[in-house]
Amino acid sequence: MSERAFNFSAGPGVLPEEVLLELKEEVPVFKSIGTSVIEISHRSPTYTEIAEAARAHLRTLLGLGEDWHILFLQGGASMQFHQIPLNFLPRGGSADYLDTGAWSAKAVKEAAFFGTGKIAASSKADNYNHIPSPDTWSLDPNAAYLHYTSNNTIFGTQFSFEPNASVPLVCDASSDFLSHPIDVDRYGLIYAGAQKNIGPAGVTVVLIKESFLQGRVQPLPTMLDYGTHTAKLFNTPPVFAVYLVEKVLRWLIGKGGIPGIQTINAAKAKTLYDRIDANDFYRGTVEPDSRSKMNVTFRLPSEELEATFIKEAQEEGLQALKGHRSVGGIRASIYNACPPEAVAALVGYMNAFEQKHG
Ligand SMILES: Cc1ncc(COP(=O)(O)O)c(C=O)c1O
Repeated sequence: MSERAFNFSAGPGVLPEEVLLELKEEVPVFKSIGTSVIEISHRSPTYTEIAEAARAHLRTLLGLGEDWHILFLQGGASMQFHQIPLNFLPRGGSADYLDTGAWSAKAVKEAAFFGTGKIAASSKADNYNHIPSPDTWSLDPNAAYLHYTSNNTIFGTQFSFEPNASVPLVCDASSDFLSHPIDVDRYGLIYAGAQKNIGPAGVTVVLIKESFLQGRVQPLPTMLDYGTHTAKLFNTPPVFAVYLVEKVLRWLIGKGGIPGIQTINAAKAKTLYDRIDANDFYRGTVEPDSRSKMNVTFRLPSEELEATFIKEAQEEGLQALKGHRSVGGIRASIYNACPPEAVAALVGYMNAFEQKHG
């Protein structure tokens, strides 16, 4: 696959090349079943084995005990914004939210359908350029949960710590899932859309602790009740997406699991931020201690140069570097599957671009 470009897409994002080659090998015929996996019943032994293997990989990677349910749901991470308060916010009750970007703002908005989503801290006034320091948070000990977004895909910020709270944590880990260890004991629920770090679009991984599950509000519409899905395979799951997620998780275990990928990610991020900080031609958009190791955002001296940077990068095989419109500039998403060579190529291109235009 030598003609593959270096892909910095924020999501759906790059998948490991090994996984794509394995997929190519298995379509149209998987092992000896006579068809591909995407054409068989979701109740077949083959699919059941694949889904169970994916769950087993997640247990291994995160150290999840049997008290954790692992669900493969649809509706995107955005559905979770609604489904979480529907299930866990007592009607008229209150839950705390850390407002650190566009996605957390969308999450808190949904809580208002059921009770109060209280913003315990926010960096909105600074265009979400940092993670508010815990000593500024106003936490409610009676909150049903504390919701936070561990990595803010659009703004390029990331929690460098896990919040301390007396109530269960609920985390939108969509854009940094399985890139760093999680102290699962603190959490009631963790969710992540697959399309950034663990697979293609179409499945959202939802991890729920049994004790948290027990606290859900009743009654609930059947499909939106987490209990429906922890009890049995209720409807057709996103078979293709789960099939690929299993492969990505297996690839990740082969990379040394979370500690292994964390080391690789730290080196990639350091290479890129060191280049940004080398002089003032490139300028990071977020406060240094809030910088994301997944989405690296930066500006150039002018919008014209930024447009040229993106266009010429594309011609050099460096794709999808345009920043989100609410930040502007450049965003390089360097998820787990982004190879170090892609970051090296980007830094080489940044150096050459500065020499030419600086
Ligand atoms: C942190 C975060 N949460 C939620 C979402 C929304 O995910 P979905 O499009 O799967 O609903 C995104 C999408 O980019 C995201 O980055």
